[in-house]
Amino acid sequence: METPQSLLFSILLFLSITSKLSLATEVYNVVQLGAKLDGRTDSTKPFLDAWNAACRSTGSPMIYVPPGTYLLNRVLFSGSNCKNTATTLKIDATLLAPSDYRILGNKKNWIMFKQVNGVSIIGGTLDAQGDTLWACKSNRHNCPEGARTLEFENSKHVVIQGLTSINSQKFNVVISGCQNVNIQGVKITSPGNSPNTDGIHVTSSIGVTITGAVIRTGDDCISISPRTSNLWIENIICGPGHGISIGSLGMNLIEAGVQNVTAQSITFTGTENGFRIKTWAKPSNGFVKGVRFQQATMINVHNPIIIDQNYCSHSKGCPHQASGVQITDVSYKNIKGTSATKVAVKFDCSRAKPCSGIVMENVNLSYQNQAAQSSCISAGGSAHGVIQPSSCLV
Ligand SMILES: *[C@@H]1O[C@H](CO)[C@@H](O)[C@H](O)[C@H]1NC(C)=O
Ligand SMILES: *[C@@H]1O[C@H](CO)[C@@H](O)[C@H](O)[C@H]1NC(C)=O
Repeated sequence: METPQSLLFSILLFLSITSKLSLATEVYNVVQLGAKLDGRTDSTKPFLDAWNAACRSTGSPMIYVPPGTYLLNRVLFSGSNCKNTATTLKIDATLLAPSDYRILGNKKNWIMFKQVNGVSIIGGTLDAQGDTLWACKSNRHNCPEGARTLEFENSKHVVIQGLTSINSQKFNVVISGCQNVNIQGVKITSPGNSPNTDGIHVTSSIGVTITGAVIRTGDDCISISPRTSNLWIENIICGPGHGISIGSLGMNLIEAGVQNVTAQSITFTGTENGFRIKTWAKPSNGFVKGVRFQQATMINVHNPIIIDQNYCSHSKGCPHQASGVQITDVSYKNIKGTSATKVAVKFDCSRAKPCSGIVMENVNLSYQNQAAQSSCISAGGSAHGVIQPSSCLV
């Protein structure tokens, strides 16, 4: 029931938001469309209704989610028939997944955007309530795989700004088959022992930028899969987690490569890896080319710098094989700090396709106040400036 006060409130809200985001031509408030901010009533339909209305708009519509907690089931926002390329989803609220993990557990994702063009998500906390699924996975074997919290697929011109993701069942944010994606100031938090809770996963995408993120998680802070290029990562705080990882690549015989990746101004604290490139030890035509890892501080990181081309999990047809993934033109510059293990720099490259063009410049990593060690197999390149541990590149 619309009371005069709530009507007045809506009008004021409308005015305050439109003045802040003066581009928005129409505002669709999910509460006015029936969403309940009690955290218990399923609000999936009002969110979809708001999306469908915004999608039909030819202007620059905004979907507004007022403060509160909203229970959302799996939701697919499809953009294939949308009439505009400037939709903003402003979330001043927490979106909550069903507490029973079986509801989403076998769906691939929870909040999914597909084939959208020009969508910005501003703010919001996504709480996937994954803890009971993690507990299941640590005790039993027949648990569902879990849903990714937020996924953009086959989309372009996307902004994700100031979003928080907590307790993801599986990967937190996934960018798949996208072009021109800007992820700014996101916060991702899952416990260090939560399984497969990668922070941001980028795959088959061109022109993704990730800046100013704080990522504490149980798997890779950022993971990068085949067919990804022009990726820019800057100003990231990572840990706990498994670091920034290109890979695993080379799982398939025919595979597109990863090219032109920059990761700079990164702090890793207590992570399993710092900068990692990882490939399966089996034939593939995949490649990694043109990667810059620079300006990083490692604090007690297990493998600060690592290329591992001998990955072979669950003996998936790869024992005693060599990786076909060619790694060339990778630089490590201005990297300092401490390693939690003696070998701080490890280049374990493919015997079939040795790494080439690895450049190290001003790398200073220590282990328990002593010199750390480096280890090279089939790794070629050059070193400049201060290099500790000393370079083993040939
Ligand atoms: C590499 O990627 C950056 C964005 O990360 C882009 O600005 C630059 O043009 C790309 N370089 C090439 C050669 O495509
Ligand atoms: C390397 O870092 C350590 C610890 O910060 C520092 O004491 C040492 O002087 C550095 N070495 C060089 C050659 O810069």
